[in-house]
Amino acid sequence: MDKKICFITGANAGIGKAAAIKFAKNGFKVLIGCRNKSKGQQAIDDIKEQNKNADIELFLIDMSSFHSIKKCAENLRNKYNKLDVLIHNAADFDISRKKVVFTPENIEQVFATNHLGVVLLTDLLLDLLKKSSHARILTVASQGLVLHPNLKIDLIDPEFKHKKFSLRKAYYQSKLAQVMYTYWLADKLKQENVTVHCIRVTNVKIDISRYPNISGFMKFLYSIKSKFSISPQQMAETYFYVATSNDLINTTGKYFNEKNQIVKSSKYSLNSNNRNELMALTYKYLTGK
Ligand SMILES: NC(=O)c1ccc[n+]([C@@H]2O[C@H](COP(=O)([O-])OP(=O)(O)OC[C@H]3O[C@@H](n4cnc5c(N)ncnc54)[C@H](OP(=O)(O)O)[C@@H]3O)[C@@H](O)[C@H]2O)c1
Repeated sequence: MDKKICFITGANAGIGKAAAIKFAKNGFKVLIGCRNKSKGQQAIDDIKEQNKNADIELFLIDMSSFHSIKKCAENLRNKYNKLDVLIHNAADFDISRKKVVFTPENIEQVFATNHLGVVLLTDLLLDLLKKSSHARILTVASQGLVLHPNLKIDLIDPEFKHKKFSLRKAYYQSKLAQVMYTYWLADKLKQENVTVHCIRVTNVKIDISRYPNISGFMKFLYSIKSKFSISPQQMAETYFYVATSNDLINTTGKYFNEKNQIVKSSKYSLNSNNRNELMALTYKYLTGK
C-alpha cells in the first residue's frame, strides 16, 4: 500500500514539530516546510534521534513570500505525485514587532504569511491532493478569536496602511480569515475527495527563547500564561485526529477545538457573503488584479 504523505509548514518548532513527530511515528512520510535550512535540519535530527525510522524530509518555504511558496510547491510536485495531508501550521506572530513590516512583494507580513500564503500554497498543491484517495487540508486559527466575537476583516485596509499597526489586530484578522477560508474552500471542494477543517488552537506553551527581543514584563506574562497552557504534543494530537480519523471521512468545513470537538465560530465568519468578499479580496492579491 502507498505510504501516506503529509506536508506540515512551520514544523521546526512548537506544535508543527510535535505534529511531525506524531505523523512520522504513525507511518506517514512527513515533509516539513521550514524557512530556515539549519533550523529545519536540526528538527529532522531531533526527530530522528527519537525515532530513527522516521521518514522525514525538509522543504524550504517562506510563507511570507509568494516567490518562495511557488518554488517550494514546484519542488514538491517534481518529487511527489500525490499528497494526503496538508497542514497550514506556520504563522507569523512575532510578539516583539511594534511596526508594520512589508514582504518583498510589498504586502503586510502577517496578512501575507497567515492568510494569502496559505491560499496560494493550497491552490498550488490542490492537484496533488486530488490524487490522494481521500486528502485532508488543515488550517489553523486561534482560541483567542473567542475574545473578539465582533471582529471583521477590514476589506478596505487589511494591511494597516491607513491605521495604526497592531500585531495582535493583524494576527487575529489573519486567523479569522483562516476560519472563513476553511468554510469557503470546503464548499468549493465538496464534490472532490479533499476535505478541509480548521483547528482552533488553544493556549499552547511556546518557547519564549524564540523571541529574544521582548521585554522582561512580556516574558513574565508569558511565564504566567504557560502555567495555563497545554503542551505542543497535546495540541498535535488534535491535528492528527482531524487529519486521520475515520469518524471524519464524510465531514468537511468544520472547526475543531483541542478536545477534538466541533465548535462554532463567529456569526460574521458563518455568513457566506462575508466569506465571498474576503476571498474576492484574497484573489485580487494573488492574481495582482
Ligand atoms: N502557541 C499558542 O498558544 C497558539 C495559540 C493560538 C494559535 N496558535 C497557532 O498555532 C500554530 C503553531 O503555533 P506554535 O505555538 O507552534 O508556534 P511557534 O512555536 O512559534 O512555531 C511557529 C512555526 O512557524 C514558522 N514560521 C513562522 N513564520 C514563517 C514563515 N514566514 N515561513 C515559514 N515558517 C514560518 C516558525 O519558523 P521559525 O522557527 O523560522 O520562526 C516555526 O516553525 C500557529 O498557526 C499559531 O498561530 C498558537
